[in-house]
Amino acid sequence: MATKERPVLDSATAHAVLAPESYASWDSLLDTFDRVRAEAPLAIVQPDEPGYFEPFWLVTRYDDVMAMSKDNETFLNNPKPVVFSTTEAIAFAQQATGSNMLVDSLVVFDAPIHPKYRKLTQQWFMPRNLKTVEDEIRTLAHRVVDKFIEAGDAGAGKPGEADFVPLVSAPYPLHVVMQILGVPEEDEPRMLMLTQQLFGGQDADLSGSGMENMTPEQITMLVAGAVKNFEEYFAGIAADRRANPTEDVASVIANAEVDGAPLPERDMAGYYIILAAAGHDTTSASTAGAMMALAQDPEQFARVKADRSLLPGIVEEAIRWSTPVQHFMRTAARDTQLGGQTIREGDWLMMSYVAANHDPAQFDNPRKFDAARSPNRHLAFGAGAHQCLGLHLARLEMRILFEALLDRIETLELAGEPKRANSTFVGGLKALPLRFTAS
Ligand code: HEM
Repeated sequence: MATKERPVLDSATAHAVLAPESYASWDSLLDTFDRVRAEAPLAIVQPDEPGYFEPFWLVTRYDDVMAMSKDNETFLNNPKPVVFSTTEAIAFAQQATGSNMLVDSLVVFDAPIHPKYRKLTQQWFMPRNLKTVEDEIRTLAHRVVDKFIEAGDAGAGKPGEADFVPLVSAPYPLHVVMQILGVPEEDEPRMLMLTQQLFGGQDADLSGSGMENMTPEQITMLVAGAVKNFEEYFAGIAADRRANPTEDVASVIANAEVDGAPLPERDMAGYYIILAAAGHDTTSASTAGAMMALAQDPEQFARVKADRSLLPGIVEEAIRWSTPVQHFMRTAARDTQLGGQTIREGDWLMMSYVAANHDPAQFDNPRKFDAARSPNRHLAFGAGAHQCLGLHLARLEMRILFEALLDRIETLELAGEPKRANSTFVGGLKALPLRFTAS
């Protein structure tokens, strides 16, 4: 697969790593990453056709991804995109927005700007403040669980069937994030569509476009349109929160100042967009992953139903096991050594969270869903200065939802084949048919 000095992935393996469809065939994707990690833990991925995308280092070992994530001076979130993009897609983004990322936000800023922007909402997302929204989240959780049971027409001893994704795991985190951003319920479908266009552009079912195999140009146009739409929408929310501030995070952003001045409009919109977008497809994927694991293991389901102290372990393991954010990219700020290779200033690197979270050197039997896994220092939330801002919220949402589900669902099993999305970036289940009885 690789030459000795500067290992280069063969074309078939490069395709397997970059094709959105590969991420829908999870086990064979994990086989590919196992092979690459064992043979060339840092390997160059290059296009068949020069110029199609800029060659980059694929990083698959847990220790290397962790080291990169924590060294924010050497591995930057700028100037090259933080999400893998083809040369053409970058050119379209530049054309559409004047930047090589479609949205300027926390994830594309580096120091000294990044910590100033991050500080604005950091306290809001800490567990102590999140206690103030716990009751509202519980109400939302009960509502989706009721709807799920109703849709399945299930009762005590009466099995019903329903798809967990459209009824629970997709709408619930969206309701939560929309609530904290002050978006009224009637606007949620629009936000859902826009977010799916932003993140799910590679999967026809998720993008809502109905177009199979979209070209990079079509995907970029779809995404650029979604960004514009988002920007217009949140400009209205910001104006309202400046006039009538509340306790929500939308008010914090609308009234924030950096270096004594309010945020420029594009940055403010970027802040809302990153929260709206990062906050729900991710949590949706790990929620569906947890439910699939429980449906596949009735004994574990019965155990956690009887002993809720097992729940935090299940939540954490579901996040590792499903790894909703599948990669982020970095740009090397200087020449450096990593995993036995010389990285040059300007090199582009892909941190594969999927590969890192399935590294057998860090996790025993990594493909097994093990709710008792300890320690479980996974990289699904990243690490270092950019570590997920919403990680406490994501865990809280999942715990509250599963408390509601475990109270109401009596038995649980798969009612069909779960389906994963075609996506190299944010991935996870798009269908999870379940058979269940309810109290
Ligand atoms: C950043 C994963 C839920 C907001 C990130 C990063 C990852 C991630 C991998 C990048 C970390 C890095 O570069 O080191 C996840 C997963 C989630 C989740 C797996 C659910 C299970 C949320 C939620 C929110 C959120 C609920 C907020 C409502 C953010 C923001 C960033 C971020 C704002 C950018 C932080 C920065 O660059 O400083 N997330 N996330 N995420 N996440 Fe999450």
